[in-house]
Amino acid sequence: MSITFRPINAAIGFAAEATGMDLRQPLDHDAFLPIRDGLDEYAVLVFRGQDLDEDSQIAFSRHFGALEKSIRRHRARAVNHDEISDITNVAPDGTIYPIDSEHMSYNLGNQLWHADSSFKAIPALASLLHACEVPPEGGATEFADQRAAWDSLSADMQARIDGMVGEHSLAHSRAAMGYDADAKFLDAEKAEVPPVPQALVQTNSRTGRKALYAGSHVAGIIGLARAESDALLAALREQATQPHLQYHHHWQVGDLVIWDDRATLHRGRPWDNSFRRVMRRTTVAGDGPTA
Ligand code: OGA
Ligand code: MN
Repeated sequence: MSITFRPINAAIGFAAEATGMDLRQPLDHDAFLPIRDGLDEYAVLVFRGQDLDEDSQIAFSRHFGALEKSIRRHRARAVNHDEISDITNVAPDGTIYPIDSEHMSYNLGNQLWHADSSFKAIPALASLLHACEVPPEGGATEFADQRAAWDSLSADMQARIDGMVGEHSLAHSRAAMGYDADAKFLDAEKAEVPPVPQALVQTNSRTGRKALYAGSHVAGIIGLARAESDALLAALREQATQPHLQYHHHWQVGDLVIWDDRATLHRGRPWDNSFRRVMRRTTVAGDGPTA
């Protein structure tokens, strides 16, 4: 097997469609390296027509590093492995979750621009999302290149924010979409996600490229007064999600999309909840805290 990348936004070297790989097949390390290098270069990789079950998705994902366990693993879920996040509107009994259920209300947080697991002490390096069932319209996932966002900042702004540290909190970002974590999180979930500090600017250790890291889990910038922190975050987020920095992925069954969580933000888009949407995510853990 040999892999080919076709860049989707050649102007900013962001997002590429990868062809020539059947990701169910075992891969040796040498065959894997071009995929890792492609992710370093393009930050989002799209593989179409991949027939993955939970085990084969997990096995492929492990090439990138150790996998996280879903913080939702303490609840009844429609998947079998702790390493799978079930990004779905279908309950274990096969019915569609009501839009006002705890499950849907929690997942609504995915519709804010974010980097996965930035609220964990060791935030995610990368995510792999596989489409099992998709609605006839809506339900796209949008990505924004945070390396290009960093590059677009003025030298003064870069100097001001480099070295700043954000406080990341899952309860904060969920509250922004009306989910009351205090009331709804299980004790085990609360214990797992206290607020954590993360660098506001991330650097890829292989390429040296910097990226802004200011998604919706950032509740504030440590050491700044509330008003100054809110104003700075609002300005950065507006600049970081401009249309020309975005790639919109329109899902087909069998797509596997891999993104670099330290180099991109993403958000899900709404769809008509009378249609099933079943996606499975694996999440690659980072090496350590970033601040
Ligand atoms: C995710 C996520 C958005 C979507 O799986 O991490 O944010 O479109 N998904 O389902
Ligand atoms: Mn996400």
